[in-house]
Amino acid sequence: MKIKYAITLLSIVLTAGMSVAQTVLDIRADKIGAGISPTMYGIFFEDINYGADGGLYAEMIKNRSFEFVNPLQGWKAFGDVEIKTDGPFENNPHYVRLRSMGHAHKVTGIENEGYFGVSVCKDADYRLSLWARAPKGGIGRLKIEIVDPTPDGYYEVLARQVVEVASSEWKKYTSVLRSQKTLEKGVMRLVLEWQNDGMVDVEHISLFPVETWKGHENGLRKDLAEALCDLKPGVFRFPGGCIVEGTAMDDRYQWKNTVGPVENRPTIVNRWQYSFPDRLAPDYYQSNGLGFYEYFLLAEEIGAEPVPVLNVGMVCQCQNGAYAHAPVDSLCRFVDDAVDLVEFANGDAAKTKWGRLRADMGHPAPFGLKYVALGNEQWGREYVDRMKPFVDRLRSVCPDIKIIGGSGPSSDGDEFDMLWREMDRMAVDLVDEHYYRDEKWFLGNASRYDGYDRKAPKVFAGEYACHGSGSYRSAICEAAFMTGLERNADVVLMATYAPLFANKKAWQWGPDLIWFDNSDISLTDSYEIQRLFSLNKGTNVVPVTMDGRPVAGQEGQNGLYACAVYDKVTDSYVIKVVNVGNESQDLRLDLEKLPAKSKIKDVSRIVFSKDESITGNRFKSSKTETDDVTGGMVVKGRNAELSVTLAPESFAIYRFSLSSRS
Ligand code: AHR
Repeated sequence: MKIKYAITLLSIVLTAGMSVAQTVLDIRADKIGAGISPTMYGIFFEDINYGADGGLYAEMIKNRSFEFVNPLQGWKAFGDVEIKTDGPFENNPHYVRLRSMGHAHKVTGIENEGYFGVSVCKDADYRLSLWARAPKGGIGRLKIEIVDPTPDGYYEVLARQVVEVASSEWKKYTSVLRSQKTLEKGVMRLVLEWQNDGMVDVEHISLFPVETWKGHENGLRKDLAEALCDLKPGVFRFPGGCIVEGTAMDDRYQWKNTVGPVENRPTIVNRWQYSFPDRLAPDYYQSNGLGFYEYFLLAEEIGAEPVPVLNVGMVCQCQNGAYAHAPVDSLCRFVDDAVDLVEFANGDAAKTKWGRLRADMGHPAPFGLKYVALGNEQWGREYVDRMKPFVDRLRSVCPDIKIIGGSGPSSDGDEFDMLWREMDRMAVDLVDEHYYRDEKWFLGNASRYDGYDRKAPKVFAGEYACHGSGSYRSAICEAAFMTGLERNADVVLMATYAPLFANKKAWQWGPDLIWFDNSDISLTDSYEIQRLFSLNKGTNVVPVTMDGRPVAGQEGQNGLYACAVYDKVTDSYVIKVVNVGNESQDLRLDLEKLPAKSKIKDVSRIVFSKDESITGNRFKSSKTETDDVTGGMVVKGRNAELSVTLAPESFAIYRFSLSSRS
């Protein structure tokens, strides 16, 4: 070894005087190390930035059940419209009573503005559903249209259907509307056609694209769900985030309110409606239409392990100075909720209450839940004291479930250290760490986990994002940091960037991974980094050193960060290298002691770099290119060398694929 370092040193000395010395990355191919958890890279969804209603949840009607504080928010009423409160769904009791104006030309009706417009595509189908009754009998005709309110006041009708309400009992009516044109900012208009003194009551007026993710009726936006699927996430954290805590106990996230018939899932104010006074979002509510069933189903469909986060009887400590937590001796119902959630996910479809509900909703087979996270960003003794009853009960009734505890909102400090000690004492399986930090922090923390106690609970980097000087630079810093996660895959089992989604028309928090409006989606540079790491994570860590020293962007390592893995699925070594500097860097990859019976078949390269031709795009300025660099490789016995030049501020992945000697 000493000889090797001396040679390396010599090569540096010999190249002194040239502008940049060639750095050498040693990869010990014979030392296949710790397994990389399939959950290593994943996603964290929270209903922030209109991520659910107005986002991933494909519902197009805002305030569909008239349950906003102002029951007609999002609606325009004309003619004789009354809000009533004795509707058929006890958790959403409001509905509208439409009375005929008694004249063909005097109309009664309502119009919905949708989420930043009711957006439709030419020739696409939209499924309308509503609940209605004609309380005084007769037949009420409801004319439903998608219209383009043109600036000159003329309404162009793009799609129309008529629903005949012929029962005095509440019934569900459905109809499909096909749009004749593409339109970003339409409205949905519902008009009562009745010339006498008839009336119709209408409730839960809903409009979905027929083409949702996997065609589910209470479905998700196809383009957004596909963007998640393309990340091949191994883990899926949900539903928050601060959403879990709410602001006060009553508006905490309660999973039981998010399952069962959508019509009866209570609508609540979304806490991000008012969290930032300079970004108020008065129409931001949670319909809970994207609830725990839809979450588990999506997780299954995209192949990710679900990690539900549960409230532990605590309100948001950032937002609620009063700290009105549930008393420790009254936590029983919160603990029951946790246990019941496991039953909802995994319980027998015939023999258990919550398993039966899951089956009734359409999924008799268990979802195979393996993890539960307790609390989001809670801190202090009050958190530790509340964790304990949850841990005790879950350990006793669901011993196979792995428990994830928290370390608070800070990435270090006394509170963080105290919580880690306590989580270790309670023997949780993983500890959730959050870091929204600057570039310097991300670069300086690529070695964060090198010194972590290998016997302590494992790490879930549950929320992180570099808040840097721009989308591209932040992504490069995240890539550098992520090499440290991967080198320490024996400690870090999960990592999820946050937040995931942001609606371009109304967001509260940035940066975010995926931006969208009703018709468009913008994947950021950070998204691309997440995708590249996820698709190339391999199965086992392989040790690397740079010029004979640990790799972590140290002084003298020319702003280079690296990690290496073996991928037993494809029988290849995958080396990831990040150059965070603004000069190009020469690097030699030394792959040493390859398996005796193998030879390298080919070497491919993926390079993520700045695309100078992209200007003015605040989400993305990178390009990803792939090529074959087999020709540059020099094989010496069981070693292989590849000299490469890394562009300034770039990330490269080299895959050395093996083939057995025959
Ligand atoms: O991701 C945005 C917020 O950041 C989350 O809700 C919270 O957990 C953290 O403070």
